[in-house]
Amino acid sequence: MNLTLKIWRQKDSKSKGQMIDYKVTQISEHMSFLEMMDVLNEQLISNGEEPIAFDHDCREGICGMCSMYINGEAHGPDRGVTTCQLHMRMFKDGDTITIEPWRASAFPVIKDLAVDRSAFDRIQHAGGYISVNTSGNTQDANSIPISKEAADTAMDAATCIGCGACVATCKNSSAMLFVGAKVSQYALLPQGQVEAADRVKNMVSQMDLEGFGNCTNTGACEIECPKGISLENIARMNREFLKAKIKG
Ligand code: SF4
Ligand code: FES
Repeated sequence: MNLTLKIWRQKDSKSKGQMIDYKVTQISEHMSFLEMMDVLNEQLISNGEEPIAFDHDCREGICGMCSMYINGEAHGPDRGVTTCQLHMRMFKDGDTITIEPWRASAFPVIKDLAVDRSAFDRIQHAGGYISVNTSGNTQDANSIPISKEAADTAMDAATCIGCGACVATCKNSSAMLFVGAKVSQYALLPQGQVEAADRVKNMVSQMDLEGFGNCTNTGACEIECPKGISLENIARMNREFLKAKIKG
């Protein structure tokens, strides 16, 4: 395939960015989207030009680093995949593909397509953990009965990879799908009960501090989420929050 790429270039967080056109040729439909970007970068380097900065690590849908907004959709036109799992067979010879970074004030652009998602780390630090007594009297987790339904729902919530596609997709730049998943993965398990009230209050308050918007139930986040995190997690977080506030 021969393609035209319209890519957001921005020198650093302070500079003004702009879309620049590039051509790539002989792209195989079996390549992943990031492999296609590698081809372009090799071309740029051999021409003595600055390669395009983009985040990636695992390239297998696990780390959540590959944040690209492709043709107006977070992680591109396929469903249930991250950008690194998106294949070029989703495009046609002669296509023009627009590639932008996540756009949200809480995710400032570092360079080109790389954004700073440390706001998510700070939300996690505010409450996304459990305290475990490691003095030698710790109860074996396998000896605590947990229903299959609760274990499965908690596991589904825990599959959130913190990629930020939900924020990039939401017209309000809301992080509630991410925070809902992180609250739910503990709220559903006995091990998460001790700090449950503090967790939800602290994580929601950090989310607000970081400048993410509110949820208006549009549902775009659930559709674009590569891990299929359900809106039910937002409802659960709201219930947990209300419960914690009533308790005081
Ligand atoms: S909820 Fe989905 S879209 Fe949002 S950070 Fe988690 S995996 Fe990514
Ligand atoms: S590079 Fe790790 S999820 Fe895409």
